[in-house]
Amino acid sequence: MYIKGVGMTKFDYSDKKWWEFAYEAAIDALKDADMNISQIDAIIFTGMSSAAGGEHQTHKVSFLSGLFKTNVPIIETPSVCGGGGVALWTALHLNSFNNILILSGERLVDNKSDVVTDWILSAAEKVIEQTEGMLFPVQNALVWQNYAKKYGATLDDLSLIAFKNHEFAALNPKAYFYNKFFDLEKIKNSPEVAAPLRLMDCSLSVNGGAAVIVSKEKTDIEVIGSGFATDHILTFERENLTHFNATKLAAEKAYSEAQITPSDIDVAEIHDAFTSVELLSYESLGFAEEGKGADLIRSGKISKGGEMPINPSGGLKAKGHPISATGLAQAYEIVNQLRGKCADRQVKDAEIGLTHNIGGAGGSVTVHIFKKNK
Ligand code: COA
Repeated sequence: MYIKGVGMTKFDYSDKKWWEFAYEAAIDALKDADMNISQIDAIIFTGMSSAAGGEHQTHKVSFLSGLFKTNVPIIETPSVCGGGGVALWTALHLNSFNNILILSGERLVDNKSDVVTDWILSAAEKVIEQTEGMLFPVQNALVWQNYAKKYGATLDDLSLIAFKNHEFAALNPKAYFYNKFFDLEKIKNSPEVAAPLRLMDCSLSVNGGAAVIVSKEKTDIEVIGSGFATDHILTFERENLTHFNATKLAAEKAYSEAQITPSDIDVAEIHDAFTSVELLSYESLGFAEEGKGADLIRSGKISKGGEMPINPSGGLKAKGHPISATGLAQAYEIVNQLRGKCADRQVKDAEIGLTHNIGGAGGSVTVHIFKKNK
C-alpha cells in the first residue's frame, strides 16, 4: 500500500473539540493528497478523549459520518497511546478498499492535570496498577531502574535524549515547544516526577489531530513493512523487565516484510513517552546491541546532522503527545522527511524511514517502514 497524503494540526493546548482536531487534520491530508472526501471509500478513527471531558459521545462512527457527509464504512481502533499505529496497521491489512482515510483527534488538556493523569491511568491494568496508583511515569521509572542497574546507563544519557528532541522540536512549527530552546543543565536539573525520572524525561500531554490517507494506487511513498505485537497488560508480570518485548516482535515482523535490516533505516520516529523508553527502544529496534543503547545517544549519530537522526519532529517529549494522534503524527513526519519537506530539520538524503508507536507500557506496539519511490 502507498501513502497518498498526510496531515496534522499544531500540537498545543488549543481549546477545540476532539472532532475539530480530527477534521482539521483530515482536510490537511486530503489537500496534501489532492483528493476530496467522495474519493475515500473507508475511514478508520482512533481516539480516547471523545468519551471524557464532558463530551459524552461514544457513537463516533455515526458522528463522523455526519461531519464528513459520507456513508462509507467507518471503524474505530482504540489502543490508547498506540491507537494511531494500530489504525495504520488496520488500514494496511484491509484489502477491500482503494483509499482509506485514517484519523485521530484528541482533546486532553481541557482538564486539570490530575484528571488527565487519572484518565491516562485507565490504560493501565485495573486490579494492581490502577489501584496502587502506578502511573505511567512510575511504571517506566521502575523499568528504567532495572535497565540502568543491569547495563550501567545513566540519567545523563536520558538528558542527552531530551536535549536532542528539544533541539529538533525548536525547528518544528507543529511542535508544542517550537522555537523554545532548553540548555542541557536545565534539563538535568528539572524536578523529579517518579524517581529517578524527572520532568524533562516525560512526554508532554497536548491536544491535537493527525491523519494519513493510504491507497492501492502507486504514489511517491510506499509502506514496505508493517508489524504489530501485543503483550500482557501487567507490566511487572512479564518475563523481561528491562525492555518491551512487543517492540522487538513488531520490529522483526516489519523488517522481514520490508526485507531490510535496521542499518538500512535513514530516519526514525520512536515512541519517547519517556526518554528511558526511547533509549531501550534503540536496542529493541535493532539500532544498538542489547545494553549499548547509551552509546548511540553519546555518539551524536542520532542527533541533528547525524547519520540516522531519531525523532526529528521533536518526538512525544517536545512536539507533544496527544495520545492516539501520536502514531499518525509520526507517519506525517516520516513521509515529509522522505519527501524532503522538513526545512531546517530535514534529514539529508532520507530514503527509508521507520515509525514506532506504543500503547500503554509496551502492551501494544506497531512498527512501520516507509520507502521513497524513485
Ligand atoms: N516537559 C516539559 N515541560 C512540561 C512537561 C514536560 N513533560 N510537562 C509539563 N510541562 C510544563 C507545562 O508546559 C507547564 O508549563 P507552563 O506553566 O509554562 O505552561 C508546566 O510544566 C506545568 O504543567 P502541568 O501540566 O501542570 O505539569 P504537571 O506537573 O501536572 O505534569 C507531568 C507534568 C510530567 C507529570 C505530566 O506531563 C505527565 O504525567 N506526563 C506523562 C504523560 C503520560 O504518562 N503519557 C502517557 C505515556 S505512556
